[in-house]
Amino acid sequence: MPPSSSPLKAVRGTRDLLPPETALWNRVETVARGVFARYGFGEIRTPIFEDTQLFARGVGEETDIVSKEMYTWEDRARAQSEKAQSLTLRPENTAGVVRAYIEHKLGERGELQKLFYIGPQFRRERPQRGRYRQFWQIGVEVLGPVSSGAESPVRDAEVLEMLATLLDELGIKDWRLELNSVGSSEDRKRYNAALREALAPVKDRMCEDNQRRAETNPLRVLDSKEPADQEIIDALPKIADFLDADSTAHFQAVRTALDACGVAYTVNPRLVRGLDYYTRTTFEFTVLDGQGLGTQNALLGGGRYDGLSEMLGGPKAPGIGFAIGEDRLILTLQAQDGREGVNAPHPEWMWAQKLDAYIAPMGVERNAAALALGRELRRAGLSVEVGDGSFRLKKSFEAADKVARHIIILGEDEVTTGTATVKTFATGEQAKVELAALRAHLKTI
Ligand code: HAM
Repeated sequence: MPPSSSPLKAVRGTRDLLPPETALWNRVETVARGVFARYGFGEIRTPIFEDTQLFARGVGEETDIVSKEMYTWEDRARAQSEKAQSLTLRPENTAGVVRAYIEHKLGERGELQKLFYIGPQFRRERPQRGRYRQFWQIGVEVLGPVSSGAESPVRDAEVLEMLATLLDELGIKDWRLELNSVGSSEDRKRYNAALREALAPVKDRMCEDNQRRAETNPLRVLDSKEPADQEIIDALPKIADFLDADSTAHFQAVRTALDACGVAYTVNPRLVRGLDYYTRTTFEFTVLDGQGLGTQNALLGGGRYDGLSEMLGGPKAPGIGFAIGEDRLILTLQAQDGREGVNAPHPEWMWAQKLDAYIAPMGVERNAAALALGRELRRAGLSVEVGDGSFRLKKSFEAADKVARHIIILGEDEVTTGTATVKTFATGEQAKVELAALRAHLKTI
């Protein structure tokens, strides 16, 4: 390749997350892990790429994700023992979790499997604010054999109640839970037929995408955001009228349990979600427009997938789960924090906290001693930055003030007498402190 002077950039739709913002990401993940632990979830980590068939069969060939958004490549055989294979960067994590559930026979353990994951997903969408080609999800899946109670509406309500708790603990304001039931696969077949019939006489007036969907997968028409088609879509038959008695009772039981917990929701009959594996309960949590997300206002989405394990060749294993778009969660937190006034103090976790101390060696011959002192303090649990002896005193003070609460001046005198001069920036106080007492001194102020 010819040499080029233009610097390389991150690929379109991907981005670097840098400190101090990564402190907020870590904080969000720590709060999520804490909540999941209280509800009895364990972590699962599945591979970032899988056999393409997993998504084709699990998520559905006709979905936008599989038909146009996947990063798929032909992985050539490298040895006689290897087969060429079509592989795909995971666009979502539910199919991978269910594959792992089947592969490791987790159903044979008998009890409910409560799993969570945090990791990157990949979709070749048109990038915009809140929509990236590599994005992060924090998700959970609850699944198991029917005997474990995996089908019970209590599970749906518990997952939703946990989400409400998590969003509240993270400090997300004004979230809204939208809820629906898409029924059993039988219910959906009847509903699809009714939709197709209702769309036939009107579809010519719709956008090209919806004309195609009306033929191939009419349910997807309900996801359409095309403004000109909304009136037609609103007048289409509603799924609620096609639910059988069991699905209706299941949905009613989820609602009763949510009411009992005091978790507010609105029923949105158009919420069918963009993935084919859903059965019965589907939901999304949204925030108001203008709170950081623009049109991408779904913070998270999820639902029940009672037939997915069987679609992937596994045993019957009903389940329910969700995935939070972590990028969108962070944007919302940042926007809502800003909304309260730029001068409002940021919650301390929004920014990396200052270090305990900055060690300023006076002269390069003190560098080694400074590093040794840094090692001692760090091993004792303090956070420390070690400066450089070639800096003038003024430069050391400026550097220290930016990153640390104290500066420790390490001169020749200090090294020979076993003391150090410590200045505390917040109070302006300066003291000579025995090296042995340094840790206590740094921690008390
Ligand atoms: P999903 O609705 O496709 O569901 O994605 C869940 C969330 O991921 C969305 O609500 C959104 O916040 C975020 N998200 C999706 N695409 C992007 C993107 N391109 N950029 C940024 N954020 C994005 C699922 O993935 C299901 N696996 C959820 C689930 C789990 N259902 C049952 N269990």
